[in-house]
Amino acid sequence: MTSILQQLQDSVSQALVSAFGSEFEDSDPLVVPTNNPQFGDYQSNIALSLAKPLKQNPRAIAQAIIDQLQIEQMCETPTIAGPGFINFMVKSNYIGKVLRKIHSDPRLGIETTKNPQRIIVDYPSPNVAKEMHVGHLRSAIIGECLSRILEFVGHDVLRISHIGDWGTPFGMLIAYLREAYPEALTSQQELNLGELGTFYRQAKKRFDEDENFREASRQAVVQLQAEDPATIKAWKIVCELSSRSYRQIYDLMGLSTFIERGESFYNPFLADTLQELDQLNLLEASEGAMCVFLEGFTNRDGDPLPLIVKKSDGGYNYATTDLAAIRYRVREDKVQRVIYPVGSEQNNHFAQIFQVGKRAGWITEQHDFVHAEFGLVLGEDGKKLKTRSGEAVRLQDLLNEAIARVRADLEARFAEENRNETEEFINHAAQVIGISAVKYADLSHNRVSDYRFSYDKMLDLKGNTAPYLLYAYVRVQGISRKGNIDFSKLSNVEIVLEQEAELSLAKHILQFETNIKDVEKDLLPNRICLYLFELSQKFNQFYDQCPVLQADEPQRTYRLILADLTARTIKLGLFLLGIEVLERM
Ligand code: ARG
Repeated sequence: MTSILQQLQDSVSQALVSAFGSEFEDSDPLVVPTNNPQFGDYQSNIALSLAKPLKQNPRAIAQAIIDQLQIEQMCETPTIAGPGFINFMVKSNYIGKVLRKIHSDPRLGIETTKNPQRIIVDYPSPNVAKEMHVGHLRSAIIGECLSRILEFVGHDVLRISHIGDWGTPFGMLIAYLREAYPEALTSQQELNLGELGTFYRQAKKRFDEDENFREASRQAVVQLQAEDPATIKAWKIVCELSSRSYRQIYDLMGLSTFIERGESFYNPFLADTLQELDQLNLLEASEGAMCVFLEGFTNRDGDPLPLIVKKSDGGYNYATTDLAAIRYRVREDKVQRVIYPVGSEQNNHFAQIFQVGKRAGWITEQHDFVHAEFGLVLGEDGKKLKTRSGEAVRLQDLLNEAIARVRADLEARFAEENRNETEEFINHAAQVIGISAVKYADLSHNRVSDYRFSYDKMLDLKGNTAPYLLYAYVRVQGISRKGNIDFSKLSNVEIVLEQEAELSLAKHILQFETNIKDVEKDLLPNRICLYLFELSQKFNQFYDQCPVLQADEPQRTYRLILADLTARTIKLGLFLLGIEVLERM
């Protein structure tokens, strides 16, 4: 169903053409929701922007547009404010009609895109040779959310994890495997190599303390790059060990399944990629290495900065692999858009590979390659999040701690309320709430900025948090249980929005689509969080002020419809954020 905003935009566009001619066919009608209800529900400042080209008074332009508008069904007569803003107030009976329609639609009236694209979201892309830490949390959470939103809008989304599974750090792990578990290489059976973290730390310890071990590690890298079969076998064992440990975290976080296509996947294409750059005269030799000189990047002396794509020892690097990936994604995957949710510390890397990708002709006007950058996760002290002993926080520990805290809160509350809940119920609820709180805290901040990780804040029942939204949802389910209501069987009564709280809630429900479409463009999921938080606040006000189960018919039924629409919007919204709901808590 076309949203009210879209209908208004179309109507203003048409009126513009009727009033001033077809040269305005493609002008943006500049209609947006207002943030101050005093100015109505929507506003357009098209008249102001046309004052110059038309050499007319903007108020007169606004009037000429209003005279051509045909929106009496939907809106009160538009008014002109200030220097020439056009204000629109949507009629409440029209809102009621729209709500009735979307109530029977599983998509809540949200249309799919008219221009479906194939889109790759590159996440969570951890590094095999290192343990997953809190930095990968953001990639996983943001990537999952963006994928779900784009998919819901109707795009063909490929989730691809560009795992760091090749290169120098592997030397150390392979050397350690050979030293500590030689039987792993000869035996046909799978060996228990313990936990990835322990394995990694022990390897690192050997690397730091012993020069002979370091030499063995360097040898292993050379053998790996030469694809020596025994070394490849060792490499595979290490990859499998880490893959198993990641999968546990992915499951706990409820991530969708994705394609694992690590850096090593592109090995067969690296030489061709460079050859192509060479044919385009982009490749230059410099101090034994091969590089592309970048435009707009200079070193300290003001000379153009080289992007090294083949090191002097003949090895390829992170940039080479990413260039091969760009080429592959365009040519083989045939994507239109590629989104990389990766930390801001890689801003230069992405700017550089995108530049080379464009100069090589792989990325064209038809393509949109975006680095959806994000900031750091900080501790409560505002410094980079660390454990007490100063190490990077392990993702697994962070999630477990959130779950444990929720569990303790739930147990205390249930004891206080004399509620008898099964162990299974408590475990499930603690896991859902704990994980949701971590995800939501991440997504509710603008991804570009750093944010402070605080269990107290993310679990606060009164703030812009997952528990607050989950409670709003549960509150509605409570109404249905108490009144024995089947929301899917409510009769289709006219929705009359008399009370301010009803109207305000109803209008807000209809803003969902605009928020989703905005995230489709700017990839900022915090918009959805804020939207859902405000929705829950408006619902709580409505529920405090307007009796539902005790109201007389037909008021009772349409208030139930409003409550159900709120819950379904929260549920869908949370789903798009990667968060599951509970029916009671
Ligand atoms: N493995 C990298 C890291 O952990 C992130 C990879 C992101 N994706 C990419 N195509 N470069 O820093």
